[in-house]
Amino acid sequence: MTNQELIKKALEARQNSYSPYSNYKVGAALLTEEGKVYLGTNVENCGYSPSNCAERSAFFSAISNGDSKFTKLAVVGSSEGIAYPCGICRQVIVELAPNIEIICAKDENTYEVLTIKDLLPHAFTPDDVK
Ligand code: THU
Repeated sequence: MTNQELIKKALEARQNSYSPYSNYKVGAALLTEEGKVYLGTNVENCGYSPSNCAERSAFFSAISNGDSKFTKLAVVGSSEGIAYPCGICRQVIVELAPNIEIICAKDENTYEVLTIKDLLPHAFTPDDVK
């Protein structure tokens, strides 16, 4: 699957955003080694803390369905520029998919492909608790 196709999936996921508090819609699409795509969107809550980001929604859905080998993650937000994962999502990425390509996008034609080392240098990793 191309980066553009995966971004399109993330744009589809963004349509499902439940974000009545921030009005900031986010979509994520997570590609497995076998070519399956898990969609995620942000789901907010009036208690604020229970809210979940799009990226983590996608990862938790994949893990819940028995998939744990990933190759790419595409993320789109709804502001003017490219969307980058928040700090908590970066920590989840380094745990579950330290080698994936992270496609940070505004739309199909405007995106950057980054690694978790780019986004979270000197990370706290599973090796640190061995
Ligand atoms: N959000 C995400 O879904 N992913 C990110 O990486 C950054 C933030 C969501 C959380 C909240 O619903 C809204 O964007 C505003 O912060």
